[in-house]
Amino acid sequence: MRIDVVSIFPDYFAPLHLSLVGKAISSGIVELGVHDLRGWTHDRHNTTDDTPYGGGAGMVMKPEPWGEALDALEELDLAPMTIVVPTPAGRPFTQELAYELAAKQRLVFACGRYEGIDQRVIDHCVEHYEVFEVSLGDYVLNGGEVASLAVIEAVVRLLPGVIGNPESLAEESHSAGNESLLEYPNYTKPPVWRGREVPQVLLSGNHGLVAKWRREQAVERTRRRRPDLLTPDGRA
Ligand code: ADE
Repeated sequence: MRIDVVSIFPDYFAPLHLSLVGKAISSGIVELGVHDLRGWTHDRHNTTDDTPYGGGAGMVMKPEPWGEALDALEELDLAPMTIVVPTPAGRPFTQELAYELAAKQRLVFACGRYEGIDQRVIDHCVEHYEVFEVSLGDYVLNGGEVASLAVIEAVVRLLPGVIGNPESLAEESHSAGNESLLEYPNYTKPPVWRGREVPQVLLSGNHGLVAKWRREQAVERTRRRRPDLLTPDGRA
């Protein structure tokens, strides 16, 4: 997969070279391009924002640098571009959407700051590319950078060859094969830590009992923490 990111803070994306995503890049599963939007400005101050038409607080990102940035990325002629625009006004980001994005050939993250990007840029994108406006949740970040990092990590770990044991993807919270249950609690050695014992059933070696216990834990956790994930009658 090819991933491009356009931001006025390209340094935000340095951590993508760490850990699993970093390995995906160095092994060639992911090709990453991080671009400074200011490279497509032409004034002395590299201006990327201006006051909003109609008045109001805050600044809006100017359309011209974004237009040039998108044209330049398209000219690289790598694969059809799917544009991801992080915004609190977007579609809620879910594991399902992560799988949908993981199937794309090329993702381009357009990171807005301030009060967002001039709407004409989004309208232009919708006309020329596939576009996903995505929200991380019902809270406001200072810009799209942190949201892009989260989406990139969630997507890249789904690509074939990134996670050593693909079965772990099926077991975790929010995965499709998991009926939208939160994941059960996990334990490792030692069997007693600060007087707290690992649940006996996990030491029993009885796979059937372990599976039953884990499912009960997952359902109970989901009922307590995220009842909205269960059907109206409370069943998983
Ligand atoms: N940009 C600012 N807030 C955001 C959020 N909650 N999700 C995605 N992008 C954002």
